Amino acid sequence: MHTPSHFLLLLTIFSLIKVAVSEEGICSMPPSIINSDSDSKPLYWKVTNPTLSPSHLQDLPGFTRSVYKRDHALITPESQVFSPLPEWTETLGAYLIAPAIGSNFVMYLAKMQGNSKSGLPPSDVERFIFVVQGAVTLANVSGISHELIVDSYAYLPPNFQHSLKCDASATLVVFERRYASLEKYVTEQIVSSTNKQPLLETPGEIFELRKLLPTSLPYDFNIHIMDFQPGEFLNVKEVHYNEHGLLLLEGQGIYRLGDSWYPVEAGDVIWMAPFVPQWYAALGKTRTRYLLYKDVNRDPL
Ligand SMILES: *[C@@H]1O[C@H](CO)[C@@H](O)[C@H](O)[C@H]1NC(C)=O
Repeated sequence: MHTPSHFLLLLTIFSLIKVAVSEEGICSMPPSIINSDSDSKPLYWKVTNPTLSPSHLQDLPGFTRSVYKRDHALITPESQVFSPLPEWTETLGAYLIAPAIGSNFVMYLAKMQGNSKSGLPPSDVERFIFVVQGAVTLANVSGISHELIVDSYAYLPPNFQHSLKCDASATLVVFERRYASLEKYVTEQIVSSTNKQPLLETPGEIFELRKLLPTSLPYDFNIHIMDFQPGEFLNVKEVHYNEHGLLLLEGQGIYRLGDSWYPVEAGDVIWMAPFVPQWYAALGKTRTRYLLYKDVNRDPL
């Protein structure tokens, strides 16, 4: 991501040259090359100066990298639509994955502003929250509260009274689903952070894996944190009955979904339906880290 700053530097140099040149009264450089306003660029300038940066592509009229297909979706930041979240105060939410797409869970971003407070999920619905910006205070009926900062998370069992409060601002990614109960098992409130979770074995693979929830039977989903260094990729080309909701937290690379190959970067969200062939390769110069919902521990019948 050095291009924008190099470009700015170039612009600054050009404008310094412009000042120097015009003060000397020499005008060897056409002003159109100096001016950043594309209206004043020479005819066909764009052909030899194409837009290469994804952040500029997002400004193209009608352009989006977002895709919605039967068995997968890519929802990029320019497509996210925020509106007030029901039951929450001073909070805007963007539902990114919802049962209308074919999923058994919802995934949304919640942007909490100053003096905001969460609402409760519907009855029998469990909730997982992960802080991507700012800080929130989680309190339960025992009056015990936790300060959750970036990279911290909490799991709230179904019908568990709790509140999230935010004094300044915070952005959360939230997963909720109707709990698939099993006789004799209950889940418990969990509060922790990614860096407290041990690295797990990934036989045949080189990426780093952490699981944010216990793998025991009471839990009907898990959240994986997967790290890839640039150039690393999944060895296995998975096809499985589980579905996924993914948020790219850092880095960039190529995600293969079915027969399509998508350049992706931090901020992108992916929905993977059961059985969609899936594969990832990390590119660029920095680590890729993504967060992944996966339904587990239940008989699919
Ligand atoms: C409230 O949170 C505290 C600290 O995490 C925990 O020990 C307690 O069991 C929770 N209360 C309930 C009712 O779960």
